[in-house]
Amino acid sequence: MTSAENIDAYFDCVLGLTKIAGELIREKVKAGVKVNTKDCDIDLVTETDQEVEKLLINGLKTNFPSHKFIGEETVASGQKCELSNSPTWVIDPIDGTMNFVHAFPHCCISVALFIDAAPVIGIIYNPTLEQLFTAKKGQGAYLNGEKIHVSKVATMNKALLMMENGTSREPERVKTVFANHQILIPKLHGTRTLGSAALNMAMVAMGAADAYFEFGIHIWDIGAGEILITEAGGVVIDPVGGPLDRCSRRVLCASTNDLAVEFTKCLQQYYPMPRD
Ligand code: IPD
Repeated sequence: MTSAENIDAYFDCVLGLTKIAGELIREKVKAGVKVNTKDCDIDLVTETDQEVEKLLINGLKTNFPSHKFIGEETVASGQKCELSNSPTWVIDPIDGTMNFVHAFPHCCISVALFIDAAPVIGIIYNPTLEQLFTAKKGQGAYLNGEKIHVSKVATMNKALLMMENGTSREPERVKTVFANHQILIPKLHGTRTLGSAALNMAMVAMGAADAYFEFGIHIWDIGAGEILITEAGGVVIDPVGGPLDRCSRRVLCASTNDLAVEFTKCLQQYYPMPRD
């Protein structure tokens, strides 16, 4: 059992570390960074991604030695991505690395604590714009300490959708991205792309956008966003309908259940492999 007191201690610790990491990201944006690639030439990584992940993991490990970790860069360097029932920190040290590299002011640290394989704490911090999104299970969602709510939009013809091209050039996936643009654009108010899955989800949580979906994201991109949106009153499901499969690399979020269902009926589906 995890008491509320424990959750508060976990939250305070990770928040302190996130703020230190945010300062580091701000400095590096000013100084400029050296870029490397991972799976393809638009899947980027920098030393700062690795440094931020180490800072968070080392700090959390010191305080909570029995906790487990799933970090984007640790997985990229060969560690298995295993979500068990044990308390597990799910970390994207810089979500929106492409934005970070270009000093486009929309990258963030995204960190969530999972217990029994579901998120109980979520923090999304954009250090450039000083936007701190936080959520604890059962306690609502906040932006810089002010409570936030999803919009009431329930139909696609009134919806602003966050959608991404993603960081893969796998031909089938690219085809699906184009097909969905073609299917969705005529049905919507509009679309927006922030270049960060976590910040897209934060926009839905605060009611600035009404939905977001993506095929190809990973658990670290969406862990914090999931609890932020559900605590803000929204829904996070599988894009074909039904419960979110957190390791499937597929996600659909919406302000209302009716809106989510309408999307599930229109989307061209894609099932990225391998799973997380
Ligand atoms: C990426 C961003 C991007 C999304 C990709 C993610 P990263 O994360 O969230 O918006 O389209 O699917 O992989 O690589 O910047 O941490």
